[in-house]
Parts: sequence; C-alpha cells; structure tokens
Amino acid sequence: MSILSDVKEIEAKVRESMENGPVTPYYTLPLDKVYDVLNAALASEIICVLRYKQHYYMTTSIHQDQLQDMFKEHWMDEEGHLERIADRIKQLGGVPNLDPNGISKRAFSTFSSGHTLADLLREDLLAERVVIKMYGDIVDYFGKADPVSRRMMEEILKDEEDHADEIADLLYTVDPKTGKTAEQFTGDGVLQAFKPNGK
Ligand SMILES: [Fe+2]
Ligand SMILES: [Fe+2]
Repeated sequence: MSILSDVKEIEAKVRESMENGPVTPYYTLPLDKVYDVLNAALASEIICVLRYKQHYYMTTSIHQDQLQDMFKEHWMDEEGHLERIADRIKQLGGVPNLDPNGISKRAFSTFSSGHTLADLLREDLLAERVVIKMYGDIVDYFGKADPVSRRMMEEILKDEEDHADEIADLLYTVDPKTGKTAEQFTGDGVLQAFKPNGK
C-alpha cells in the first residue's frame, strides 16, 4: 500500500466503528492486553505516590527539609504519570482501574519502608529500578504499533530514571581516592526515620 494512493480505501475502512475515536481498524495491538499493561503501570504509579507520601511523613533529622522536598517532588511527578496513563487508557476506549482492591497485585512497584532514612531511600531506589525495567519493556511492547503510548511511556521512563539518579546521589558517595562507592547514611542513630509509638 502506498501512502498516497490508497486514501479512498482507508477512508472507507475508518468509517467503520467511528465511535472508537482514535482507535482505527488499523490498530494492531490486542486492546485487552493494552488495557492490562497500562493499568499495571497505573497501579504502579499509585503505589509510588503513596510510598513517597509515606516516606515524606516518616522523615525526620537534620536532612528533613532536603529529603521531604525530594519526596514531595517525586510524588507530584508520579501523580502526573498516573493522570497521563489514565487519560491514555480512556483515549484507547478502556477504563482506568483505580479500585483500591488489588492495586498492589496489579502494580510492578512495591510499598515498603523500613526503619532508617537509608531504608526509605533504598526502598525508593529499588522500586524505581523495577519500574525502569518494566517501563522499558512496555516501550518495546508498544514499539511501532502504538507510537503515542510508546512516547508517553518513554517520557515517563525518563522521569523514573531521573528519580533513581537523584536517590542514588543522596544514598551513595564515591570516595575520590579509591573510586569505591559507599552509603552515606549507614550506622547513624540520628538518621532514624519516624517510628510510630516508639517501636
Ligand atoms: Fe512514575
Ligand atoms: Fe518515579
């Protein structure tokens, strides 16, 4: 099919199922699978918002301002991702699944905390790294078949890489003499995260 010569045929075909809006009969991916994939990403974003909010309120110590600023900035980014993904699901004719039941089962990311600031940052970094891998796979899945969803996931993936980079910078230092990486927050009692009821 040449790009210019088959417009009449194309027009006749896309006249079918006009109610599907941007989803034409030429869309080749199975939509049920697409909704599942995007709803898994949506659930992951919800978990990320909640985890960063949890960590925001658990943060104490002299590093409080810096860390809380970062947690807040990240959860606002994750909320933006959540909205973009939900909009895209709707645009493709699906229903964004915001049902609290089963969110953690649908999500790639985990909701964990720990007792020290280092624990919080490690959990965030781990979750971001899992999401980076999974979103990379989703980018490949959309490939040429759905460039709009692919581009959205690429842009979100870039933000997740920035998040991971920022956390890694906070968590680790590199000794200029040895070139070895070390954790900044180890073994310091001042850096305990808030623990309810003194537990
Ligand atoms: Fe995100
Ligand atoms: Fe993130």
